Amino acid sequence: MSRPDAYSFERYLAAKRTVDDRALHRPTLDRLSAGLAERAAESDGPISVLEVGAGIGTMLRRLLSWNRLPDDVAYTAVDLDPGLIDAARERLADWARERGYRTAPADGGFRLRRDGATVAVEFVAADAFDFAARVDGDREWDALVACAFLDLVDLRPALSALFPLVSPGGRCYFPITFDGETRFEPVPDPAFERKLTDAYHATMDAPDRPGCSETGRKLPSAVGDCGGEVLASGRSDWVVEPPYPADEAYFLHHIVDTVEGAVADAIDAGDAAGIDRGDLRAWADDRHAAVERGELRYETRQIDLLGRVP
Ligand SMILES: C[S@@+](CC[C@H](N)C(=O)[O-])C[C@H]1O[C@@H](n2cnc3c(N)ncnc32)[C@H](O)[C@@H]1O
Repeated sequence: MSRPDAYSFERYLAAKRTVDDRALHRPTLDRLSAGLAERAAESDGPISVLEVGAGIGTMLRRLLSWNRLPDDVAYTAVDLDPGLIDAARERLADWARERGYRTAPADGGFRLRRDGATVAVEFVAADAFDFAARVDGDREWDALVACAFLDLVDLRPALSALFPLVSPGGRCYFPITFDGETRFEPVPDPAFERKLTDAYHATMDAPDRPGCSETGRKLPSAVGDCGGEVLASGRSDWVVEPPYPADEAYFLHHIVDTVEGAVADAIDAGDAAGIDRGDLRAWADDRHAAVERGELRYETRQIDLLGRVP
């Protein structure tokens, strides 16, 4: 595809779905499904799942498509961005109708029914940590999900705030957690490429921004320090290469634009030594052109983790 004139985070999240589908570490997901099934077998009511940073609802759609949830589920999707929550509501309703689910309004969202299975979906537009503070022990969920989220927040305070939302012995599932490596190929100028990816990662570690570029590798010990137990984990690296399926060419253009924007801000702040605006623009132009020619390969390192909450 040709270089987009404009970028949309909603389209990026939609395009990311097929990339994540390939990347997710299946043994870790298997352990999540088995844990939820065990809890369902012991429970009279629905199994409750809380997803924070839920975006456009991709994970719920995936868990349903892949038959990874018990038959009776109450799913709460929280995201900071009200526009994304509206998109999640619309996209999930459309997706469910197309697959023969019957939909009916329910508290804060809707109820989906098909073949004896029920999913009550509640949508909440809120900061996850404000939401946790508001809940303050009034509600508990059987599982907490946060996909591509923990690298955006301060890890230990985040886990300490979110774990009390999970009932004792419940699960936490943290897939697609970024872990410090980004690679674009071909690499015309290896020395510049190293400077650029280092500067990009440094933007994630800036003291005035929450989150960390090496959250993935820090996750197991952070879960343990917050009283949890790691049950499974593994790599979920993104690999996007030609021929690009689905909307993955857009995904690549969006990533190149994101890297360029983050490093441009670092240059303006005097935090990107050895990179000037002209070099950065030339790098981005070259990468967009490589996507248009169907030549760019992109890889990142990520971790999925499943834990038991104390
Ligand atoms: C990288 S996106 C991932 C979205 C979705 N989990 C996915 O993988 O498609 C991160 C999401 O977290 C949301 N987010 C960031 N900080 C948040 C916060 N403090 N509370 C709730 N949502 C937040 C963003 O609005 C965004 O939708």
